[in-house]
Amino acid sequence: MIDVFEDSLLDMPLLNTHKMRLSRYNIGMDTTNTEDQQDVQHSENANLRPHKLKDYIGQENVKKTLKMFIEAVKKRGTATEHVLFYGPPGLGKTTLVYILANELQGEIKITSGAALQKSGDLAAILTNLKDNDVLFIDEIHRIPKPVEEMLYPVMEDNALDIIIGKGPSARTVRLPVAKITIVGATTKLALLSAPLRDRFGLILRLDYYQDKEMEEIIVRSSKLLNLPITDKAATEIAKRARKTPRIANRILKRARDMYEVDKHEIIDEQLLEKLFSLLEIDEVGLQKIDRKYIKMLATKFSNLPVGIETIASALSEDQQTIEEFIEPYLLQLGFLKKTPRGRVLTTQALKHLGISVKQNDVEQPTLV
Ligand code: ADE
Repeated sequence: MIDVFEDSLLDMPLLNTHKMRLSRYNIGMDTTNTEDQQDVQHSENANLRPHKLKDYIGQENVKKTLKMFIEAVKKRGTATEHVLFYGPPGLGKTTLVYILANELQGEIKITSGAALQKSGDLAAILTNLKDNDVLFIDEIHRIPKPVEEMLYPVMEDNALDIIIGKGPSARTVRLPVAKITIVGATTKLALLSAPLRDRFGLILRLDYYQDKEMEEIIVRSSKLLNLPITDKAATEIAKRARKTPRIANRILKRARDMYEVDKHEIIDEQLLEKLFSLLEIDEVGLQKIDRKYIKMLATKFSNLPVGIETIASALSEDQQTIEEFIEPYLLQLGFLKKTPRGRVLTTQALKHLGISVKQNDVEQPTLV
């Protein structure tokens, strides 16, 4: 599995270990003054992030809602709702959380559902927060149930219920918590329990970006990185970045490597042609693993409906990787359909790869 993804521009679960380590490391991290934060701020990803809502490109409805929320909080002087962002990876959930904290003039503390394994972990963070702070819980769907239940009174009453003692002598002590905004982010809304979901006043879905928005983001990032780029090259990167800013910025950085190493004068279509052939990214943004997925469904299974477990074992890939990183974009492109009996390719996907499957086998009806 590693060789397929080693050079991948996708944010694969392979990176999760690293991400989790980073999250643990980030627990309770301030936006001010710490060395950790300076590292983050100096990293290029952080530098490419807009800090104000007005500089954020795309997601117009989300921006409108957040703008109203920020103004309301400022008017009332206190946070009243908690915010949940959901959507595919790489679309800017974390960026929006930073913007929100910045606009509310609070500090941001970052943790993740995977790092909050014990109630004590959450209690330690909460007791260090001040009014107006933002507590960002990434991958919030990974919070264990007891920790989740501990969040309920925090979200509703700004109170932390701590159980002291065990057995019949156990009692609950209620501690006050600062008036904070809890911001959750998840790629899997369905895995959030209804009671937790219902405690978020704002639930905002991030969607894939339009090509024009992607172009704007690429032009903006090129300026920040001091990179000359032609309009056509920006369009070309936009076409191949899977409607995802994180991927666009990664491609741009690889283009910068080529621009510097091969001493180009500008990032143009010629440079990109070489780059995309090196990275094996095709004109709609499919990578090697996506093409392998499509070819396998078309040839090995004659495009008859196939279940996710079968696909995972045939590709020697774990189910999560397939469901989170391969299929969403294929669905978005209209290359794949999920039917009650399994996954089926559309004629568009077959055409794209120039594969012919016996006509009867294509796009099976969804019910027998
Ligand atoms: N960089 C990454 N995502 C962005 C966005 N949505 N707007 C501006 N810059 C970005």
